[in-house]
Amino acid sequence: MAADFNAQAFSAVELIRTKRDGHRLPDEQVRWLIEAYTEGIVADEQMSAMAMAILFQGLDDAELATWTQAMIDTGVRLDFQALSRATSDKHSTGGVGDKITLPLAPLVAACGVAVPQLSGRGLGHTGGTLDKMEAIPGWQATLSNDQMMRQLEEVGAVICAAGDGLARADKKLYALRDVTGTVEAIPLIASSIMSKKIAEGTGALVLDVKVGSGAFMKTLDDARELARRMVALGKAADVTTVALLTDMSTPLGLTAGNALEVRESVEVLAGGGPADVVELTLALAREMLQAAGSDADPEKALADGSAMDAWKQMVRAQGGDPEAELPWAKETEDVVAERDGVLTQLDAMAVGVAAWRLGAGRARKEDPVQAGAGVVMHAKPGDRVTKGQPLLTLHTDTPEAFARAREALAGGIEIGDETLERQPLVIDRIS
Ligand code: URA
Repeated sequence: MAADFNAQAFSAVELIRTKRDGHRLPDEQVRWLIEAYTEGIVADEQMSAMAMAILFQGLDDAELATWTQAMIDTGVRLDFQALSRATSDKHSTGGVGDKITLPLAPLVAACGVAVPQLSGRGLGHTGGTLDKMEAIPGWQATLSNDQMMRQLEEVGAVICAAGDGLARADKKLYALRDVTGTVEAIPLIASSIMSKKIAEGTGALVLDVKVGSGAFMKTLDDARELARRMVALGKAADVTTVALLTDMSTPLGLTAGNALEVRESVEVLAGGGPADVVELTLALAREMLQAAGSDADPEKALADGSAMDAWKQMVRAQGGDPEAELPWAKETEDVVAERDGVLTQLDAMAVGVAAWRLGAGRARKEDPVQAGAGVVMHAKPGDRVTKGQPLLTLHTDTPEAFARAREALAGGIEIGDETLERQPLVIDRIS
């Protein structure tokens, strides 16, 4: 707690009324509220009323900047200035089959810019980067700050667990929002993400704001608004920040599930992999390099094997064996096409929930995940399919999960007669 913090300075009820009635909160009240909540002086029920008031009334740009800074001030702030390389990071708002961090971090490192990826575990239908990396035998998510710095200097890329010390207010507030129907408030999402990313100490940041059925933001307008507010927060904190709006109406790539996605990422690093995963990896790498002031060509680093070398070094530095066989699930079952035609829909949310039910994700944060579970896709929207052809293969160690996974997919797969105009993957760029 700050030495001059005065628990009696304001009344939480007055602040809630101010926001409920659509007025702005002065800076000192915002700072007090965040600190008092983090220290347990403002009660959970008061903060949930405030979160709901913000969901309806919003925060203006200045309020949001103060709110975010107050959240950063509740924890530690990392500093990578001592590194010999510039740093650049990426944050995705989360999607199905979004394994992009895995090939992206070593790719950017191979181009000479350091990537400090402090990541989380998955909750719900989107997978977590740490869950994916933990499918690699021996790989450890937890690093000390010294280990992280050394690895960034020597290898150039780190994917590790974000310690509890960053933006402490966020941990408490996010858990509260999760159970009070207030996760969707755009200013609260923006401050939650940006407080952690700014506290992490990266010099540049590229945001991948997903839009579509499998994303937090279902509409383009909401995704644009979230991107605009996060970019403004980054700039206000002197972090060069750019956002890409990318499609999440269908899963990225051909896999959703932990070990399955690691395999696909390694294919990309080996010069293959699905076209959409390659396209987005390269688009984000270009943005990360440019934001860090580098004009290196990531396509070259992918083609000449240097990105693969950086991946192997990154995995080994954290105890993992990049050559080890990755786990497979014990059981598989195919979902087949019911008729001839063109696959017109493969819904991201349906596939994400199916993978989750098969064991790739968790319902509560203490639940274990199955490394081998998930969904392999054999066709994507726009592909011509024939009756009886496998569209998906479901993977699990717990075959009783197949029925619930199929239920999740019902309505998420459509086959029509018309050819389908493919939507662009990168929809917009906000800087
Ligand atoms: N991810 C976060 O870290 N915070 C949010 O509020 C939403 C997504």
